Amino acid sequence: MDLMEYQAKELFAKHNVPVTVGTVITKAEDAAAAAEANGGRVVVKAQVKIGGRGKAGGVKLAADPQEAVAKAEEILGMDIKGHTVHRVLIAPAADIAEEYYFSFLVDRANRNYLCISSIEGGVEIEVTAVENPDAVAKISIDPQTGVDDAKAAEIVTATRFPAEVADQAKDLIKKLWDVFIKEDATLVEVNPLVKLADGSLEALDGKVSLDGNAEFRHEDHAAFELTEDEDPLELEAKEKDLNYVKLDGSVGIIGNGAGLVMSTLDVVAYAGEKHGGVKPANFLDIGGGASAEVMANGLHIILGDQQVKSVFVNVFGGITACDAVANGIVGALNTLGDEANKPLVVRLDGNNVEEGRRILNEANHPLVTLVDTMDGAADKAAELAHAGA
Ligand SMILES: Nc1ncnc2c1ncn2[C@@H]1O[C@H](COP(=O)(O)OP(=O)(O)OP(=O)(O)O)[C@@H](O)[C@H]1O
Ligand SMILES: [Mg+2]
Repeated sequence: MDLMEYQAKELFAKHNVPVTVGTVITKAEDAAAAAEANGGRVVVKAQVKIGGRGKAGGVKLAADPQEAVAKAEEILGMDIKGHTVHRVLIAPAADIAEEYYFSFLVDRANRNYLCISSIEGGVEIEVTAVENPDAVAKISIDPQTGVDDAKAAEIVTATRFPAEVADQAKDLIKKLWDVFIKEDATLVEVNPLVKLADGSLEALDGKVSLDGNAEFRHEDHAAFELTEDEDPLELEAKEKDLNYVKLDGSVGIIGNGAGLVMSTLDVVAYAGEKHGGVKPANFLDIGGGASAEVMANGLHIILGDQQVKSVFVNVFGGITACDAVANGIVGALNTLGDEANKPLVVRLDGNNVEEGRRILNEANHPLVTLVDTMDGAADKAAELAHAGA
């Protein structure tokens, strides 16, 4: 799970990283009081889970509470690379002397942790890494020993932090390591980490990704989930325990098993090239048991997507045999009634396939087309989606 800046800063504060969280608001008129509470001169920052907010106009200084309201009005509702701004953070305007970059992340390729840091921060680190690679330090961290005093000192030296902030930097680095390890994060990034005019260090921005596999040992992390930023269909799918990801195309996809669904997306995208470039509308893995209820839930979500023009049900009978799946499809169509209003292309194969096909043929539902092969079915589904567009 990726966190918003203000959530990342809440975690920083919990581990005593020097930070000023500020106040989060959702209505521009609340900006005046929030600015007042944060010293009057503030920065108004869009809270979206995407980088480059500053460049997009989502980070603005305000000299007083009145101006904070005006800036909040500008930023709230703004679209930043496809993310709508529902919240802004109002934080004290800092007197910045220098901007640095600092991060801890999982280095998958080397099965290790990695620290990336630079005294040339503030801007995109990817740009610095290309234009001035010597300014970017990369220090690998042994998971067994982590970041102790010696490692923190090594990082400070490698980054070439100025001598006057070296001790503070060591301390701050160890605290950020606490955030990384104790919160089970896969990324902790601070850009910019700043030296203020008074010489003290502060995390002025924060980006944290938490490891979902460790959710069970962090009950407090559930509070970071912000439902209004999620796709409504994905939310509904989550409530029904379905593995659904909305995509941009018009061919709805249902399959059993993540691998089969992934390859179904590929064959549909390929077949779509011959039919006006139609694409898959979603990923949906209904898992092993394809009961009428699960099938109906899946179809309900897919048909709720206005972009969907046809649906491809691609099932390989294994432990759940094809006759059970066929009964599931027929049952689901009965349950959905008039709601089922888009053509369905069904491809069944595997365990007890003859009986499955017999059941579907007998049901003779006007919306259902049975196709024997995966490629053939993908082609048919793409053709129907193109015709229905
Ligand atoms: N509290 C603050 N006071 C003064 N200036 C700030 C403050 N917060 C941010 N800034 C300035 O705005 C710049 C951009 O802010 P920030 O890093 O938070 O957003 P961003 O980098 O554009 O967004 P992202 O990190 O998502 O790409 C900073 O580099 C800094 O110069
Ligand atoms: Mg930043």
